[in-house]
Amino acid sequence: MKFTEPAGTNPIDRMTVVGRPQDRIDGPRKTTGTAPYAYERHAEAPDAAYGWIIGAAIAKGRIRSMNLDDARGAPGVLGIVTAAEAGKLNKGNFNTVKLLGGPEIDHYHQAIAIVVAETFEQARAAAGLVQIDYERAKGQFDLDEALKTAPLTGGEEGKPGKEDRTGSFESAFSAAPVQLDATYTTPDHSHAMMEPFASIAIWKGDELTVWTSNQMIAWGRGDLAKTLGMPKEKVRLVSPYVGGGFGGKLFLRADAVMAALGAKAVGRPVKVAMQRPLMANNSTHRPATSQRIRIGATKDGAIQAIAHESGSGDQPGGGPETAVNQTKLLYAGPNRLTSMRLAVLNLPEGNAMRAPGEAPGMMALEIAMDEMAEKLGMDPVAFRVKNDTQVDPEKPDRQFSQRQLVRCLEEGAQRFGWNQRNAKPAQTRDGRWLVGMGVAAAFRNHMNMKSGARVTLNKDGRVVVETDMTDIGTGSYTIIAQTAAEMMGVPMSAVDVRLGDSDYPVSAGSGGQFGAANATAGVYAACVKLREAVAQRLGFNSAELNFADGQVTGGNRSVALRDAASAGPLTAEDRIEFGTLDKTYQLSTFGAHFVEVGVDAYTGVTRLRRMLAVCAAGRILNPKAARSQMIGAMTMGVGSALMEELAVDKRFGFFVNHDLAGYEVPVHADIPHQEVVFLEEADDKANPMKAKGVGELGLCGVGAAVANAVYNATGVRIRDYPLTLEKHLDRLPTIA
Ligand code: MOS
Repeated sequence: MKFTEPAGTNPIDRMTVVGRPQDRIDGPRKTTGTAPYAYERHAEAPDAAYGWIIGAAIAKGRIRSMNLDDARGAPGVLGIVTAAEAGKLNKGNFNTVKLLGGPEIDHYHQAIAIVVAETFEQARAAAGLVQIDYERAKGQFDLDEALKTAPLTGGEEGKPGKEDRTGSFESAFSAAPVQLDATYTTPDHSHAMMEPFASIAIWKGDELTVWTSNQMIAWGRGDLAKTLGMPKEKVRLVSPYVGGGFGGKLFLRADAVMAALGAKAVGRPVKVAMQRPLMANNSTHRPATSQRIRIGATKDGAIQAIAHESGSGDQPGGGPETAVNQTKLLYAGPNRLTSMRLAVLNLPEGNAMRAPGEAPGMMALEIAMDEMAEKLGMDPVAFRVKNDTQVDPEKPDRQFSQRQLVRCLEEGAQRFGWNQRNAKPAQTRDGRWLVGMGVAAAFRNHMNMKSGARVTLNKDGRVVVETDMTDIGTGSYTIIAQTAAEMMGVPMSAVDVRLGDSDYPVSAGSGGQFGAANATAGVYAACVKLREAVAQRLGFNSAELNFADGQVTGGNRSVALRDAASAGPLTAEDRIEFGTLDKTYQLSTFGAHFVEVGVDAYTGVTRLRRMLAVCAAGRILNPKAARSQMIGAMTMGVGSALMEELAVDKRFGFFVNHDLAGYEVPVHADIPHQEVVFLEEADDKANPMKAKGVGELGLCGVGAAVANAVYNATGVRIRDYPLTLEKHLDRLPTIA
């Protein structure tokens, strides 16, 4: 099904199952420990041996020699694979850096060997006996230093990069009576997902099956096949349950490659869970940014000029953190400049982490908006409302398909009690706490992705959906069951959803908050086909059929749905594809985040007190699951504001705090009351589901809302994330 025109009325609009707060159908499996994760495939691989990954101990250089003799002779050892043993491997399409290093080393903790043994402990002990002699080379690990000479991105292949300009920024900025020019920095972030990268690899002849933890089955399958130099038809990837990914599991990673190589070498299934202390440096991370923002406005607060220039770094051949995305679209203003610089760094590979681009971009832009509002003497809500735009500011004849940012801000302000905020900072005390409120807009683009599914009606009337879509803790099982139930007119309990297997049709996968809308649209497309097949089997001529309560009704005739399968199962397969509506219209999601914090007047520690998000993101398929996405993302936003930072050792080129003891993320005790409100919407330009996504919207803006609340509490502006206590302790208001 190709989606080329705005959606008309369709069966989803009934919203008898879709749009309701359904419980997660995978919930009981997860809470009883019966949902098998990648490392727990005991039935499929009862005799699996254990793999231990050795990571490089230098950031750049080469391995002069490796002595494996002692390790090979250690108890229980079945085999060791290094680059020398592995032979020629290719780099995956989605990998910037190869996943098995040696003799050249590209980054610290790049995998250089897998030790396979009968037990986990034996593999670990033997790995300690491997002797490696390195030749360390000089690398660039200092972003600030590297950005001094870093080129602009955005040029054509092989050509110099360029700025994006509309109007004349410099002259409009210098003529503006009120100006802001400030630089904001965000550190490197780690996905730090609960379930580590984990894989079990099984070879049968030249066919490879890998049980793994991955967000994008087709990408992973293709890249595993490419890496190993085999046809992708010979690779099966299975990932029906994923314990968090946040973008870290969008791509093939070392666990799957090393498990496959290990299993081949020892002739047995091999299971690998990447050791926690390896994860931060071995895998990808969200790159640090340095962002300069300039805003010029009239005295009454109309933005005349806005510039956002961001710099980040990556391995050679990598990409920038696209932190200027939202600044192209969020606020009005005739004179605009955005640009990105990309430095070459020899730190681990930078890549997507939840809301790549907008998450760190909004952390900067939405502090800048707060600072500008203060300069103007305007309320920060009113300043944002004044500069709303209903068209793409760079291409004014392009409208947003839907844009209720103003309503999100105004309704949020009212619900949160924003009028209680004292615009003058450091005025509100509650015992030892300096109390402040902050606001930020939320913004994240919506992406269309092709997505396929297969739907089968069985004799017993049950409907089975198969798609390689993943559920990374988001609720994919549930919203897909809701979609099929709504389309086929059966209860959710009559739908079986099978996910995360490369034997199933290729879906959008889970990423970029595109998963829910696109994967369900693919299921919708397959269900439309199945409805046609049902109609034909049951001998209906009319196209106007009603599927409800297990019956198919047309004219004055009503037949049980299951009768269509009495002669055998009926199967239909299709995928959703898209025309150019996303070019004609700008498809985006919006929201407003409100935060109240207390800053300890004596210690400088910040504690959250209240959070509210109001969102407008198209049809909300399952308000309960969507709320969970929001509160999870808001929690992550608090982490990015107050805690999260991969500390770079600029001498040796690695992230120092590479475990969950050193890399701090919020825990339950850090997070107070969170409220989430969804405005009623249905975006007919997005897809037949009229849905977009919220999984990343929930994060975009939160960091700045926290930072703005901290400023309102203390009167000390911090532009360097995370907002740890030492950054304002010496400037806090004097304690009487
Ligand atoms: Mo998301 S960073 O695209 O999984």
